[in-house]
Amino acid sequence: MKLFSAIHRNIFRIISLSAKRIQQDCYVVGGYVRDFLLGKKIYKDLDILTIGEGIKLAKEVSKHINPTPRINIFKRFGTAMLEYKNHKIEFVGSRKESYHLYSRNPIIEIGSLQDDQKRRDFTINALAISLNERNYGELIDPFGGLSDLERKTLRTPLSSDVTYSDDPLRMMRAIRFATQLQFFIEKSSFQSIQRNRNRINIVSMERIIEEFNKILLSKKPSIGLFLLYESGLLSIILPELTLLQGIEEKNGYKHKDNFYHTLQVVDNISQEKINSLWLRWVALLHDIGKAYTKKFLPKIGWCFHAHELVGSKMVPKIFQRLKLPKGEPMRYVKKMIQHSYKPIVLIEDNTSDSAIRRFLFDMGKDIEDLIKLCIADITTKNVEKKNLYTNNLFILLERIKKLEERDRIQNWKSPISGNDIMNAFHINPCKKIGVIKNFIKESILEGRISNEFHSAYFLMLKKGEELGLKKR
Ligand code: CTP
Repeated sequence: MKLFSAIHRNIFRIISLSAKRIQQDCYVVGGYVRDFLLGKKIYKDLDILTIGEGIKLAKEVSKHINPTPRINIFKRFGTAMLEYKNHKIEFVGSRKESYHLYSRNPIIEIGSLQDDQKRRDFTINALAISLNERNYGELIDPFGGLSDLERKTLRTPLSSDVTYSDDPLRMMRAIRFATQLQFFIEKSSFQSIQRNRNRINIVSMERIIEEFNKILLSKKPSIGLFLLYESGLLSIILPELTLLQGIEEKNGYKHKDNFYHTLQVVDNISQEKINSLWLRWVALLHDIGKAYTKKFLPKIGWCFHAHELVGSKMVPKIFQRLKLPKGEPMRYVKKMIQHSYKPIVLIEDNTSDSAIRRFLFDMGKDIEDLIKLCIADITTKNVEKKNLYTNNLFILLERIKKLEERDRIQNWKSPISGNDIMNAFHINPCKKIGVIKNFIKESILEGRISNEFHSAYFLMLKKGEELGLKKR
């Protein structure tokens, strides 16, 4: 207990004294205990289990905190939550049967500490630290959670079939913890996931995706993606991805396994502190169109013509099905996939400045992310090739930066506004304004004029005249 920080010692003392006053035993349980024993820096929420009523304990605790915190009560679950010094503290009463929060039919019977522990998902999450005077600070570990932490093993306290059927989301949690902590899922437990995989269908998509995103945001997402694939869960959640698996050979031509390639690209993009969830989604889906565009052309080999376009068009439906946000993140992922091959085309020696300006215009601020994706996409084992391709992309990025410095296309804003045009020709809003603005934009992107007011104004007068307008 000495190892707890001062703030936690203080919280635990208050809870301990409050529990004594109402004569209910209480324990710290769940992720806090696990992470504490793993030696992680803990900022997280605290789960307090009491043998009795959680709400009653929360009310008692609140009386000893100054100023008195607001208590959120969830009557249906018999739980309560209050905030204290940036910590969310959740109070739950022990239950005899199914773990209360995850049971479909909440069971109200009060259980012992062990009744509650055995209904938790994994032995490493079923550890409890006593806050009771008689054994304050003692670790209560009836299922060997501590040794599983040492062995880096995920094991269920009860038979895995029971634990997973209590809440099938735990199959996702097993894979998420295996990825985040780099732990092994015990063999029989993994086999149980394989057997019970279809039960995931009764879990809401929001809960599934929350776990999926945690896998994607971990240090090495391929661990979880591979386990999802092996367990059969991936073909239920994201079948578009499993379709990429496999290598085909014809007339001596072979293509790479696009599933394993994708896993590697996701790992690559997850390095170097790139924490953007949506860039990781881009990496995950960047080749998704390949399964639908695959063709064998004699003398040429395997082709995936326009797979970026096909893939990008699949994004809205996938996002909708997975209940991912519809707005900006979806548009970003779609746009990134659509343009994912563009930098490779632009690397060609004779690429004109105007092609690069158009690229800047299309990608805006996302251009650097796209280059990061292209670098992550280089998965060849040939070091020379890898260095050459990476270097080419850096050269392209330099060229893009120089051009942007000069022409300022990235955050495009026309140097001539609709009002400028209306004032110059003394006209009301009409179609011709759009035609002139577009002509100016095209001329700047093509490099016929520079991106500044005077050249644009002069061109506006010329184009206006052509359209039959007269300057005032
Ligand atoms: N729990 C469970 N089954 C679930 C979810 C949670 O048995 N489907 C139990 C576990 O004992 C878990 C505790 O409830 O440790 C708290 O759950 P939660 O806060 O969701 O997860 P943590 O383990 O704290 O981990 P994280 O915060 O990383 O999700």
